[in-house]
Amino acid sequence: MALARLKAAFPWIQTPLVVGAPMRLIATVPLTIEICRAGGIGFLGAGSDTSTLESDLRTIHAQFIERPPPNASSLATNTLPIGVGFLNWGANLEAAVSAVSKFPPAAVWFFAPRSTNDLIVWTTKIREATAGRTQIWVQVGTVTNAVEVTRACRPEFLVVQGTDAGGHGLQQGASIIPLLPEVSDAISILEVPEEEKPILVAAGGIMEGRGAAAALTLGAQGVVLGTRFLASHEANIADGYRNEVLRASDGGKTTMRTSVYDRLRGTTDWPPGYNARGVLNRSWTDAENGMDWEENKKLYEDSVRMGDKGWGLEGRMTTYAGTGVGLVKEVKKAGEIVEEVRSGAREILQRAARSLA
Ligand SMILES: Cc1cc2nc3c(=O)[nH]c(=O)nc-3n(C[C@H](O)[C@H](O)[C@H](O)COP(=O)(O)O)c2cc1C
Repeated sequence: MALARLKAAFPWIQTPLVVGAPMRLIATVPLTIEICRAGGIGFLGAGSDTSTLESDLRTIHAQFIERPPPNASSLATNTLPIGVGFLNWGANLEAAVSAVSKFPPAAVWFFAPRSTNDLIVWTTKIREATAGRTQIWVQVGTVTNAVEVTRACRPEFLVVQGTDAGGHGLQQGASIIPLLPEVSDAISILEVPEEEKPILVAAGGIMEGRGAAAALTLGAQGVVLGTRFLASHEANIADGYRNEVLRASDGGKTTMRTSVYDRLRGTTDWPPGYNARGVLNRSWTDAENGMDWEENKKLYEDSVRMGDKGWGLEGRMTTYAGTGVGLVKEVKKAGEIVEEVRSGAREILQRAARSLA
């Protein structure tokens, strides 16, 4: 049933579903479009800044008119075949509503609201603006949060984010291995009609076919990749950042959830309880070793002026990435990544099924 709902809402997708995370400033128009053209769902990272959203959606609309995605003829939902991700704590609701009412995307993704009440307002307004055509996805990081959001907002999808995830997430959490099944169990016994229960997708630590197959086995209907798409040609990312993603390995040891990078970058408006995972560098070690904060910030600002040379083990520029960063070895086209992950997962699951026969 979940598969039928998935295909009805997103007729262009191929399964197993591969999703590109709405990485703020990085998942811009080219990455979003390329993932969708390859049969995945690319989320545009509007984040906390809605100032260019309408023009971005207009561009996407024009590009799809010029070159429709595969299966365009079956686009029954009358929506743009993409998603848009918002950081609810900072995004402007009025601007978001205005943009999506002109160019309704097939899905919106909400993350990090200041309260459940805010999330209810966002959900209601976007549903009104798009006459219910746009599917609501909410990224959650605990079982409690998943249940609360489902009861309050009835989203069509929950993105279950484990603590391996790159970028922002909950300070305290679990990996998707225990989190996804526990969320799934908790949702299954909720007093919500079966057809209104959210479909689960998994995020956090999935880099390739093996991780995707594992997540599908845990009960996810699709997988979200963030870190992996940092090494795609279409990502809007500095060379220094991308090179650091390719260099880093052994992410359990070389990345950390911390608020050091938010403080250095001045992105301190996140609601309480969130921090972000990034590759450890000089800023982090100096902070650990008790360097005066003003001194650390000054050195960070110096490194910003160094451009691409500001990244690296001895550098200070931030490399947000997940624990799976060591599995990211080369830069590929986003469409190739989608295809590789999808066919890799399929092959592994088929092999596993055969091994039981
Ligand atoms: C560089 C980077 C930026 C991110 N920015 C956002 C964002 O703006 N909004 C959001 O909902 N999630 C954001 N995320 C988190 C992703 O939604 C997702 O949970 C995560 O990337 C999944 O884990 P992975 O990085 O191991 O694939 C970001 C992740 C990364 C790596």
